[in-house]
Amino acid sequence: MTNETILEVKNIQTHFFTDEGVVKAVNDVSFVLRKGEVMGIVGESGSGKSVTNLSIMNLVQSPPGKIVGGEILFHGENILKMDKKQIRAIRGGKIAMIFQDPMTSLNPFLKISTQMIETIQLHQGLSKKDALKKAIEMLTLAGIPAVESRINCYPHQFSGGMCQRVMIAMGLSCNPEILIADEPTSALDVTIQAQILDLIKDLTARFGTAVILITHSLGVVAGMCDTIYVMYAGKVVERGNTADIFESPKHPYTRGLIESVPRLDKKSRDRLFSIPGQPPNVIDLPPCCPFFPRCTEMKEKCKSAYPPETDFGAGHIITCWNYVEANT
Ligand SMILES: Nc1ncnc2c1ncn2[C@@H]1O[C@H](COP(=O)(O)OP(=O)(O)OP(=O)(O)O)[C@@H](O)[C@H]1O
Ligand SMILES: [Mg+2]
Repeated sequence: MTNETILEVKNIQTHFFTDEGVVKAVNDVSFVLRKGEVMGIVGESGSGKSVTNLSIMNLVQSPPGKIVGGEILFHGENILKMDKKQIRAIRGGKIAMIFQDPMTSLNPFLKISTQMIETIQLHQGLSKKDALKKAIEMLTLAGIPAVESRINCYPHQFSGGMCQRVMIAMGLSCNPEILIADEPTSALDVTIQAQILDLIKDLTARFGTAVILITHSLGVVAGMCDTIYVMYAGKVVERGNTADIFESPKHPYTRGLIESVPRLDKKSRDRLFSIPGQPPNVIDLPPCCPFFPRCTEMKEKCKSAYPPETDFGAGHIITCWNYVEANT
């Protein structure tokens, strides 16, 4: 990781205007991504992880969604102000995305070779022959066996893990500066999950690609990320480098997430911890800490206002009233 900032997300707010009310899916999220950095965004279902990343690509479904505030600066230029042509060059080219279920991104009617060649030609302007060469090279790096004979298969002829390898190869074939991986392994079984994460880690390190890895589980980000952002109800509640988050987690929610990770050194008869209660409905959220109903350290103050940030140094920042009061 270097100190060069490539992406700066500033106070993004993305809301969905539904019949039931305004869903504040992303509520003032900011972060900085540096060249080669591997960042993890972690949180329970509905915390706003995917919408944050769709906002980065200006891909939020509208209506009902709308980015109502903030800026997404890619090399200092606001993606939200770009015209269609500029943004098309970025999506899939400079910023690539891979999703949980590769079958939703691969076209079932086209051979793998056709899909890869089209993507590479679109973003890199190579001849068909060179694009095919590049596709074979990338699929080989991604661990697809016997690429020359398998490249002309259709996606359904590949297993889930192999399709995810194809997506990674396709995503990285245009030398993106950022790879956004949204739950890239949650549809796969555990052994394949580990292989796919290793593959993402190895290939992105080799090319110096920055990664935003989105996942439910802190277990997934532990061995992989430089920095971790913990999201709850559309906000980042704790952020820091991976060592600080694991060695001295501060927010009661982060601690709950860490305790929910299965560990080999714990007796198997101990029941796995899960945070009691449900994530909140993000419609009409009260202007206080949204975690208070589930928090074991809740105080009166937590019910009345949203806590300000407390800075523990080295980029370790928490929003929780417990620390505000301890520091004043
Ligand atoms: N098209 C939409 N219309 C209305 N609400 C939406 C829409 N898309 C997302 N939301 C809401 O925005 C909130 C954040 O959703 P998001 O998909 O970002 O969650 P997530 O953290 O990625 O969850 P998961 O782990 O389940 O993927 C949720 O409350 C969700 O219901
Ligand atoms: Mg999601």
